[in-house]
Amino acid sequence: MEILIAEDNTVSQKLLNKIVRQMGHNAILAKNGKEALEMLKKNNISMVITDWMMPEMDGVTLCRKIREAEFSSYIYLILLTAKDSRKDALAGFKAGSDDYIIKPFNHDELKAKIRVGERIIKLEDEHKKAGVQLVQSEKMASIGQLAAGVAHEINNPTGFVSSNLKTLSDYQNDITSLVIEYRKLVTDLNDCGLKDNYPSAIARQVERIENHEKEIDIDFIMEDINELIGDCKEGTDRIKKIVIDLKDFAHPGENKLKNTDINKGIETTLSVVWNELKYKARIKKEYGDLPVIKCYPQQLNQVFMNILVNAAQAMEEHGEIGISTIQDNGCIQIKISDTGTGIAKENLTKIFDPFFTTKDVGKGTGLGMNVAYNIIQKHNGTINVESTLGKGTTFTIRIPVDRE
Ligand SMILES: Nc1ncnc2c1ncn2[C@@H]1O[C@H](COP(=O)(O)OP(=O)(O)O)[C@@H](O)[C@H]1O
Ligand SMILES: [Mg+2]
Repeated sequence: MEILIAEDNTVSQKLLNKIVRQMGHNAILAKNGKEALEMLKKNNISMVITDWMMPEMDGVTLCRKIREAEFSSYIYLILLTAKDSRKDALAGFKAGSDDYIIKPFNHDELKAKIRVGERIIKLEDEHKKAGVQLVQSEKMASIGQLAAGVAHEINNPTGFVSSNLKTLSDYQNDITSLVIEYRKLVTDLNDCGLKDNYPSAIARQVERIENHEKEIDIDFIMEDINELIGDCKEGTDRIKKIVIDLKDFAHPGENKLKNTDINKGIETTLSVVWNELKYKARIKKEYGDLPVIKCYPQQLNQVFMNILVNAAQAMEEHGEIGISTIQDNGCIQIKISDTGTGIAKENLTKIFDPFFTTKDVGKGTGLGMNVAYNIIQKHNGTINVESTLGKGTTFTIRIPVDRE
């Protein structure tokens, strides 16, 4: 760690420098309190050992200024006092120092005090990290609630758009067949050889119809209308999938512990996602003998599903997905590997983050792996990923058999 030494006496400064370096730390030197403050702003310093009496700014003032300033992490302060007086020590503590040592000091005593400082800095650090994590998980919880709300709101309109599209498509087929009949009538009228004998009203009407057909390009419309309806259906299907992702993110599956055969769970999941896999990959299965475990089977199936769908989506051409299970060291281990595109090194640590996706807008929500991660955590298990760009990816899940 970086330790700042503020001391105007060069002999004493050299000595302190030596001790700090002996203990494996980096020493940064300052001649007085003012210089020390400058150094603190520029460097990532964890501890300050400061003399009391210094020109420009003394040690006690330095301590006070450090405590007043807002540094991103805690700075541990040791004050060197020349006088053997309790009153001085007290003034130091009041100014915010953590400890003091009387000059001339005993080397071992100073080392011991630095070590205490190291411990406290470490604790402060861990405490802060835990705090950040807490804030993070609170944030996640509120994003989850938001997601659930949005999913619900999107679900209803998507539902009626999608069912109306189906009705529209039926109507459209009816109208198309009717138009075809009408057109036949027009052709027949033209072909029957009686054209010149029509009452003029009918002749005019036939002409109007023919002109109108040309104007609106009826052939194109009849072809395009089905395509448009098809696209709309695909759109609503996509929205439905995204809504499912969001819902899973907020409430990942049924919350009932059940005795479960993991191999069976994988088989069920495979049949559910078969449509997405069958054109992309052949499946190689190696199921080991597994004990029944108490778990949330729906949730685990969701993990398998998210991994399998990603594997299929990662295939640029036809490839292979390998699934193997074994019992190992009190754990059930499930490996799912694919011969897809692989994951770039810089993305490996991000794939479990919520909303991290490399897929196009509308295709990926970036929630699948985060949901998987949370579910495996809930089972006291671990999920790891290994990947080589251009070769493929392997996910390894380990869940303890006996979680009590
Ligand atoms: N088997 C895989 N092969 C390649 N990339 C993957 C694989 N699994 C996950 N990824 C990467 O991790 C990202 C996050 O995955 P996920 O959370 O399921 O979100 P999404 O699939 O919606 O993008 C993907 O966008 C992709 O970049
Ligand atoms: Mg996914």
